[in-house]
Amino acid sequence: MSYKVRFVDPARNYKMIKKEIDAAYHEVMSRGDLIMRGQLKHFEEKLAGFVGTKYAVGLNSGYDALHISMMAAGIKSGDEVIVPAHTFLATASAVVNAGGRLVLADVSEDYNVDPGKIEKAITSRSKAIIPVHLNGRACDMDAVMSIAIKHRLVVIEDACQSLGATFRGKKTGSFGLTGCWSFYPFKILGGYGDGGAITTNDAKVERYAKLLRYNGEKKETGAYYYHGFTCLLDNIQAAFLAVKLRHLPEWLRRRRKIADIYRKGLSGIEGLKLPHFEDKRFGDVFQNYVVRTSRRDELYNHLKKNGVEILIHWRIPYYKYKGLKLKTGRFSETESISREVLSLPMNVEITDAQVKYVIKTICNFFQFM
Ligand SMILES: Cc1ncc(COP(=O)(O)O)c(C=O)c1O
Repeated sequence: MSYKVRFVDPARNYKMIKKEIDAAYHEVMSRGDLIMRGQLKHFEEKLAGFVGTKYAVGLNSGYDALHISMMAAGIKSGDEVIVPAHTFLATASAVVNAGGRLVLADVSEDYNVDPGKIEKAITSRSKAIIPVHLNGRACDMDAVMSIAIKHRLVVIEDACQSLGATFRGKKTGSFGLTGCWSFYPFKILGGYGDGGAITTNDAKVERYAKLLRYNGEKKETGAYYYHGFTCLLDNIQAAFLAVKLRHLPEWLRRRRKIADIYRKGLSGIEGLKLPHFEDKRFGDVFQNYVVRTSRRDELYNHLKKNGVEILIHWRIPYYKYKGLKLKTGRFSETESISREVLSLPMNVEITDAQVKYVIKTICNFFQFM
């Protein structure tokens, strides 16, 4: 199907920065700098600088960032880790694959974990919390950090959807033991394939993650320290991501501008809830522009028919999939979200005219003039 408005448009994004990306490609290829070279180090420094942590460690996915963080937090068999019921499955899989026990907590209407529900989920076996800053909005980190301090829990931030988002002016990914990042192509900082990183202020965690990503080996000496993984951020991806990171401040402004156009065009439609949760402590970056309506499936079909590409995060909460064998209970907010949400096109490639077309198509659906 050919869309009038794509959810994201990587080819158009490439055209916007073609000269710089091509130059980065030529530099990497002509030097043969493929594994753990200067481009990776440079990107890590820039990412840490942007997030406001001492260190960043490039990895090959957000999942690996979460999994290694679980190991760095010392999660072992029987340890409970509290995770939001409404998140991408990778957050939960990292806990399970590290040997931990998943304990889920429901979210609030801003789609992020409800701190009151975290408190209720705590037991004597609780070891860590993974707040997920979903859709480009930080969790209430005053509440999360004070619960963690009170109950001596490690905080691992799933910041995969929140690069640039702030809480009281501090960037997500700089509060916990680690911040976990994804550079999957649809992300705010999207690479040309998979990619991820950990940010941290802890030198031991930095060293541990750098060893684990390279099969437990210290590259300089060839000595092995751990049974690790092969999950480096490739040098060429790092070179591309460094180019994109330079554009990030301008691209975050653009995301906020698009969100504002949506807000102006869609406010006042009865039965349509927009993702603007007024609270000055939060600086949102709109990884996703999520709207909510009880007529979700009809609206989805109407937008699709009119050439607008829509994603739904997520139609079925992950804990309901039988194959995962999770015995977790029910989470009413997560379940109504799964019936009601849809994510509108939100990317820096989209034009104002395209955003207005999406708005017009939605207004037509609701017969809102
Ligand atoms: C909230 C969240 N957590 C974790 C991940 C996993 O990241 P990756 O796809 O890079 O493994 C993603 C990416 O889709 C995500 O959105």
